[in-house]
Amino acid sequence: MDSFEWNKVFAALLAAAFVVLGVNFLAEELFHSNTPDKPGYALEGGATEEATTAAAAPTVESVDALLASADLAAGEKAGKKCAACHNFAEGAGNKVGPGLYGIVNRAIGVADGFGYSSAMKAYGAGKTWTYDELNGFLFKPKAHIKGTSMGFAGIKKTEQRAALIAYLRSLSADPAPLPGS
Ligand code: HEC
Repeated sequence: MDSFEWNKVFAALLAAAFVVLGVNFLAEELFHSNTPDKPGYALEGGATEEATTAAAAPTVESVDALLASADLAAGEKAGKKCAACHNFAEGAGNKVGPGLYGIVNRAIGVADGFGYSSAMKAYGAGKTWTYDELNGFLFKPKAHIKGTSMGFAGIKKTEQRAALIAYLRSLSADPAPLPGS
């Protein structure tokens, strides 16, 4: 074949490729618009998990609005409940539970040398201790992460959780930004 014919072959192939792409695109459009198979998927922040555990766990009141003005001294005091099992100081290492210095926005389950439960490892994959995660976990650890080995009932008072989380935030050389800032 001479180069003129090659051009025709090439043009035909290109046209065929466009048809295939076009059909794929249409099919995807139809598929996406007709099958919302995961309702609530678009909501960020683990909304689907919250939805599935909602029956077991009551909704936890957010601490976001309270953090900026929370009482750090009250938070430090509430932290005494944790101190039997956790160290708060930088580099102080693990006790019964992992060291908590710099816990806000730290990846879940990554303290060096700590043997986490398989529940914590599975739940935490790819997640960090955001304010929401801490708030839900500290409200009722065993409801937030079923199967966690943390033997602590939880803190039901929203103000006390807010103070404690604000205190945890302060345990860092570079505290995480407050929600909405
Ligand atoms: C009786 C011991 C005990 C008490 C009390 C306790 N914890 Fe824990 N905590 C643990 C254990 C054990 C784990 C590891 C849990 C797992 O692997 O499932 C843990 C894990 C955690 C984690 C996850 C850390 C990481 O590295 O991902 C946070 C956050 C946490 N605890 C915060 C607290 C706070 C805040 C308090 C006090 C309100 C508290 N804990 C009270 C034992 C305790």
